[in-house]
Amino acid sequence: MNPVLCPPILQVAIVYSKDETLAEIGKIQFWRHRIDVGHGIVTPGRNDTERDVAYLSLPEDMTGKRVLDIGCSDGYFSFLCEERGAEVVSVDHVPGLPGKPGQHGFRVAAKLRGSQARFHWLSVYDMNKIDGEFDIILFLNVLYHLKHPLLALENVYGKLVEGGEMYLKTFFYQDFRYGKYGFDIFRKSLCRFYEKNELNNDYSNWWAPNKRCLEAMIRCTGFRGVCFLARYSDRLYYKTRK
Ligand SMILES: C[S@@+](CC[C@H](N)C(=O)[O-])C[C@H]1O[C@@H](n2cnc3c(N)ncnc32)[C@H](O)[C@@H]1O
Repeated sequence: MNPVLCPPILQVAIVYSKDETLAEIGKIQFWRHRIDVGHGIVTPGRNDTERDVAYLSLPEDMTGKRVLDIGCSDGYFSFLCEERGAEVVSVDHVPGLPGKPGQHGFRVAAKLRGSQARFHWLSVYDMNKIDGEFDIILFLNVLYHLKHPLLALENVYGKLVEGGEMYLKTFFYQDFRYGKYGFDIFRKSLCRFYEKNELNNDYSNWWAPNKRCLEAMIRCTGFRGVCFLARYSDRLYYKTRK
């Protein structure tokens, strides 16, 4: 797959030399996102965020919109929304690592891109520490990392303006024994709990709802219109509205 050059950096924003840029991106051990940081250099991320963008169908024009990117990681989606005209607030947090944002590349990428997105090392459980409400909230690939997913959904809901939209992507529970029909075979809301590292050998994974359960959770939070956008492999994509 070709390196993802979206969102492209504005040439006027390039203030670091090529060597300085390479030195900066080398400070981050693990890049999740491929981000254009100028001089034709793209951060060495592994995720296919271009596919996510295609499935999510985010608005092309976000002029005048406030966007909150929860679990922003290196910031690909924050920078995309910024390039589309939004005022962006980005938060990330790793439970057990208070005050240590250095493991993600957001600050480095933002500096190199000259981004105005405001970053907070803050948990989704602490959304009351962020000022104001948002027109669009991105909640991508975070839900299954949370011990308290319903509380988190309520916090997201609380930060949206009336009519505001949440874009959600998450891992979901499916039973592969039933082949291509397996992903919602049970016709019941079920949520699987991972006490240890059973899911992908990762201790930060807690809950995986099946499709029916995920949609019920979104509805129970108060969202109107649960719009299923796509399923890709073990991920589901949704858009919903306050
Ligand atoms: C799998 S990554 C997804 C990154 C990005 N949203 C994407 O879709 O590519 C999950 C992110 O959620 C963050 N995260 C985990 N728990 C969180 C919490 N309680 N509050 C905010 N972010 C959290 C992690 O640090 C990580 O950056």
